[in-house]
Amino acid sequence: MPTALRLLLALLLLFAMLGTGLSADKKPLVVVLATGGTIAGGADSDTTTIGYKAAVFGVDRVLASVPALAKVADIRAEQVFQLASENMTPAHWLILGKRVNQALKDPAVSGVVITHGTDTLEETAYFLHLTVKSDKPVVLTGSMRPATAISADGPLNLYNAVCLAGTAEARGKGVLILMNDAILSARDTTKTNTFATDTFRAPDSGPLGFMQLGRPLFYRLPARAHTLATEFAVDALTALPQVEILYGYAGSNASQVTSALAAGAKGIVNAGTGNGSLPDGTKAALAQARARGVLVVRSSRTGSGVVTRNGGVDDDALGFVAADNLTPQKARILLALALTVTSDPLRIQRMFDTY
Ligand code: SIN
Repeated sequence: MPTALRLLLALLLLFAMLGTGLSADKKPLVVVLATGGTIAGGADSDTTTIGYKAAVFGVDRVLASVPALAKVADIRAEQVFQLASENMTPAHWLILGKRVNQALKDPAVSGVVITHGTDTLEETAYFLHLTVKSDKPVVLTGSMRPATAISADGPLNLYNAVCLAGTAEARGKGVLILMNDAILSARDTTKTNTFATDTFRAPDSGPLGFMQLGRPLFYRLPARAHTLATEFAVDALTALPQVEILYGYAGSNASQVTSALAAGAKGIVNAGTGNGSLPDGTKAALAQARARGVLVVRSSRTGSGVVTRNGGVDDDALGFVAADNLTPQKARILLALALTVTSDPLRIQRMFDTY
């Protein structure tokens, strides 16, 4: 065969392989860190999709339900925890964050997938988004139906998450959530429905993209700083400052503030009504808390939209911080991390405007 033709064939083969994301001889190495949840959950009957037991199957069994993974990645799996995610705590985040950083330091590793219960998945994801020190992909996934159910959603979610974590396209986009074919940013995403498989939504911004046939299609990028660009470092931390969330409602009063202070809170996130509005009694109690050195963040219980600094409440005068469009549970994570760096409310406001 003439040399020019041979060269042309070799080039065509290379382009075909690049198109599928596979290198000539190597699949990406993806580390799967399992933490429990419904994706590892089971029930006696295959029609039981509510009232099953979360976190019963080990990572090997979860991976074995997706034989196609062997075609798309080499997997290194580890059972980090075995929890229903309502039992996840900041202490677990610290362990997990350090484990993720360690895994990504290995030059052979392309990315990390974390299997997680969906109830607090968004919180773990945002904590990692602010603390992981790598631009390699970190993808959290889970499922709404247990592994034993008809049409369990875990296997396809896991397949897509591993494919995503193995791609170069997912690098530098912060921590991602992969559920129901959608690729979502950890910052903007929240669980919106108690049982639906499309429960994860980013109300103010939508998904970053979608998975199709194991390949990502990206349409948007996260605008806020994350991972390598933050000032937070999990490796040096042994605990997070205590931050409590209070909930506003018609007739709510100062008693929640009193309880938070009695519990030793260093920070309070108030999930206020509307644009973070506060009843007079709560506002006065929060002002007293602030005078005692406790950091106060105004967020909203509405689930979307921006809480505006000095919008209806005089944050400048009271020394409060406005949560931007972070949900109360995300604002709590950012405030806890911020308090590891500073107790200056204006510096903390700048962090809320940045991350
Ligand atoms: C959990 O969060 O661990 C249980 C619910 C779920 O994974 O969907």
